[in-house]
Amino acid sequence: MIRDLAMRRATLEDVAVLAEIHLQARASAMPWLTVVHTPDEVLQYFKEQVLAESDVWLAAGLGGFAGFSARRDTELDHLYVAPPFWRLGVGTALLQMAMLTVPRLELWTFQRNAGARQFYERHGFTATPFTDGAANEENEPDVRYIWEGPDDHA
Ligand SMILES: CC(C)(COP(=O)(O)OP(=O)(O)OC[C@H]1O[C@@H](n2cnc3c(N)ncnc32)[C@H](O)[C@@H]1OP(=O)(O)O)[C@@H](O)C(=O)NCCC(=O)NCCS
Repeated sequence: MIRDLAMRRATLEDVAVLAEIHLQARASAMPWLTVVHTPDEVLQYFKEQVLAESDVWLAAGLGGFAGFSARRDTELDHLYVAPPFWRLGVGTALLQMAMLTVPRLELWTFQRNAGARQFYERHGFTATPFTDGAANEENEPDVRYIWEGPDDHA
């Protein structure tokens, strides 16, 4: 487990860090995924959409920026941990913060992303519809995960 993890809300000044973690984590975890956006397009997306519309939390360890989450209401749009920090509890810390904030969470992940699926299932998420990927940009089959939250949280 990582020690001395600090978390704070991300600001516009963090946009390059968010885009870099997003690009690195996706490339490492999903080398089979079609890349549909340039690094600059990803940067603009985080600047103009994610930071403008979402509650974004950035985690840092002693070794640098470790990961981030982006949530709109109950939709967890992004949860990415930088590869050097994988399996040290950073994703769990970011997810637990979101779980303490809203009564339920929903998200999409790709069916082939076995690591993420095991991570979410370990945290009590249930797989609901599976799609053929026709509705996402990458045309990659995906799956909707839902966490209903504890009974006493409603
Ligand atoms: C999925 C992700 C967020 C998990 O974050 P993390 O900080 O590595 O996870 P944690 O250390 O908190 O939890 C680790 C547990 O999650 C599961 N897990 C995480 N990565 C896994 C992998 N590659 N294979 C199998 N299980 C995995 C395991 O249960 C693991 O426990 P273990 O190490 O005792 O076996 C991170 O691997 C990541 O950023 N992946 C790439 C981006 C991504 O897929 N994001 C989700 C898209 S919706």
